[in-house]
Amino acid sequence: MAPRLLEALIARNQLLAEKIAGFKIPIDLVLNTRTLRNRLRQLNASPEVQPWLLRAIVIQQSQTMCGRIGFHSEPGPEDLRNVAADGVELGYEIGEPFRRRGIANEAALALMKWAYEEHGQRCFVLSINPGNIPSLGMARSMGFREIGSHIDEEDGLELYFERRLGSWPSEWTSE
Ligand SMILES: CC(C)(COP(=O)(O)OP(=O)(O)OC[C@H]1O[C@@H](n2cnc3c(N)ncnc32)[C@H](O)[C@@H]1OP(=O)(O)O)[C@@H](O)C(=O)NCCC(=O)NCCS
Repeated sequence: MAPRLLEALIARNQLLAEKIAGFKIPIDLVLNTRTLRNRLRQLNASPEVQPWLLRAIVIQQSQTMCGRIGFHSEPGPEDLRNVAADGVELGYEIGEPFRRRGIANEAALALMKWAYEEHGQRCFVLSINPGNIPSLGMARSMGFREIGSHIDEEDGLELYFERRLGSWPSEWTSE
């Protein structure tokens, strides 16, 4: 998502956002504004990092946006130095009416495959609040293992999970 689209989503200007995006954006699609703002700030500072940052998740048949996914930065950021120095952190959010349909799983595998194939990325990281049962379940279902924890300035305690790949996992091939 380019800066103009992020700005429209942050302003909750759904009509403008749809015009820029070229797909439908449900009026009640709630996305974490803090994440949108943080990524917009990163993009404004370093436009070349855009492919790593936020992407809209769009249902192909209906051309409707149902969530967002993206890495928090390019690989190897300072905040991962002590847990997974060669890692890149993945984040995602699916609008409530669209959950439990396998969308986050499909999007996460697709984005990791892009990083794996296009950039040779092998180490993926998730950081999850210990009370976030859906996200913990998703991490485990994708074969991530817990590697540590940290205190996020805004979100408090978060557990770090990692999946380090050699070759592309066979269980992800049919996805
Ligand atoms: C976490 C989240 C992205 C999952 O999205 P989703 O599209 O519903 O997930 P999927 O349908 O692809 O489910 C993938 C796996 O996650 C786990 N999972 C998802 N929702 C779950 C729930 N409510 N309880 C337990 N496990 C759950 C399951 O293991 C599931 O696999 P299964 O359906 O084969 O059992 C979604 O709940 C969400 O947006 N939550 C709010 C934002 C958030 O917490 N983001 C992650 C921050 S770390």
